[in-house]
Amino acid sequence: MSTSSAQVLGDVKNMELADMGKKRMDWANQSMKVLQIIRKEFIKNQPLKGVRVSACLHVTAETGNLAITLRDGGAEVALCASNPLSTQDDVAACLVHDYGIPVFAIKGEDNETYYSHILAALDHRPHITMDDGADLVTTALTKRQDAAEQIYGGTEETTTGVIRLRAMAKEGVLRYPIIAVNDAATKHLFDNRYGTGQSTLDGVIRCTNLLLSGSRFVVAGYGWCGKGLAQRARGMGADVIVTEVDPTRALEAVMDGHRVMSMAEAARIGDVFVTVTGDKNVLTKEHFELMKDGAIIANSGHFNVEIDIPALEKMSSHKRATRPFVEEYSMKDGRKINLLGEGRLINLAAAEGHPASVMDMSFANQALSVEYLVKNHDSLEKKVFGVPEELDKRVARLKLESLGIKIDRLTPEQEEYLASWSEGT
Ligand SMILES: NC(=O)c1ccc[n+]([C@@H]2O[C@H](COP(=O)([O-])OP(=O)(O)OC[C@H]3O[C@@H](n4cnc5c(N)ncnc54)[C@H](O)[C@@H]3O)[C@@H](O)[C@H]2O)c1
Repeated sequence: MSTSSAQVLGDVKNMELADMGKKRMDWANQSMKVLQIIRKEFIKNQPLKGVRVSACLHVTAETGNLAITLRDGGAEVALCASNPLSTQDDVAACLVHDYGIPVFAIKGEDNETYYSHILAALDHRPHITMDDGADLVTTALTKRQDAAEQIYGGTEETTTGVIRLRAMAKEGVLRYPIIAVNDAATKHLFDNRYGTGQSTLDGVIRCTNLLLSGSRFVVAGYGWCGKGLAQRARGMGADVIVTEVDPTRALEAVMDGHRVMSMAEAARIGDVFVTVTGDKNVLTKEHFELMKDGAIIANSGHFNVEIDIPALEKMSSHKRATRPFVEEYSMKDGRKINLLGEGRLINLAAAEGHPASVMDMSFANQALSVEYLVKNHDSLEKKVFGVPEELDKRVARLKLESLGIKIDRLTPEQEEYLASWSEGT
């Protein structure tokens, strides 16, 4: 139940959690040095003065620090969740209570509430949308065109959202330019790989207390998230098996030292299965039929469509919750299959999402992209753009500085050599 004071500035679970949320955000902030630098600049220069921003992001401590940074830059920010299970209720309460930022998000909200919260964020009549999975943009352009008239730009955080937005641009339905933050090198090379890699294992371990060492750990999808997950699972002693549909990525997994096979083969021998493909129906009836008694299945891709849960429901005689975020499905032949976190992003459902230090880079890109859109939206077409390279490089430089690491610079002679063709053997 939401409290009445929360309803004034949003819809959150319990305002009494605000103090805990503040401590959680302060803890994260210590590891978000690049965002701190941008925040100082924003406070001084007010680049977002008068700009209304509606953000549909996982409501976590790191997102809290991003929202405050935008607000300190002069923006009026409203926030809703980008997944029904990823909200940290204490952070949501803190943003409302301590910072006056309207937040519409409650962990465990049903689908109807989830979309009513997105509509509430659109009532803010944003100039800029920030998405993680493109639910805000698609809702604005399909159901609330009245609230979309003044929108002049948006950002997108994740691979799945970028895929959806590129499809919208191709069909000519995208009505304003979007910056694909996911495509910045300082985002996907770090957040998707190291962030998802670590936090997915964290989610699986927190809800199962499983010993990974010696287990057969199946990773579906060897993209940036899958590579990070496979590498970390191996680091903990698991026997990692990768499944792929892309031959180059499958080959990469082989050369990285993993076993690669079809899911039909892996299904027979795996102990734990994690999907990170961004695709649908990757684990289906055909695979559930082959799985061992006690198999554990989870998803860390954006939407809860990677595991065919309706098929699992149909195949089972009953189910029961055995631990938080663990549902045990009893098959008619007596086998049990354990589904984690309702098939939603396990790192956010059962753990705390990515560590702040890596979100520092993703959200530095977000903040700089919003500033860029405010300055340049007039000259941008209604398409999906990458983060400008100079911003991406700046984030990398600032992160290195914050880690106290200095690197070499090209000499003028090297610069000239690297731009020329005349010198050979
Ligand atoms: N959990 C998180 O916090 C988090 C963080 C970042 C991204 N994501 C999400 O994770 C998903 C993957 O992101 P990414 O950046 O690694 O994408 P990516 O495009 O780099 O990789 C996805 C891989 O999955 C493979 N794939 C597609 N269908 C498959 C199938 N049926 N079986 C096996 N492999 C298949 C593709 O060939 C590709 O190599 C996306 O939905 C993204 O939005 C989640």
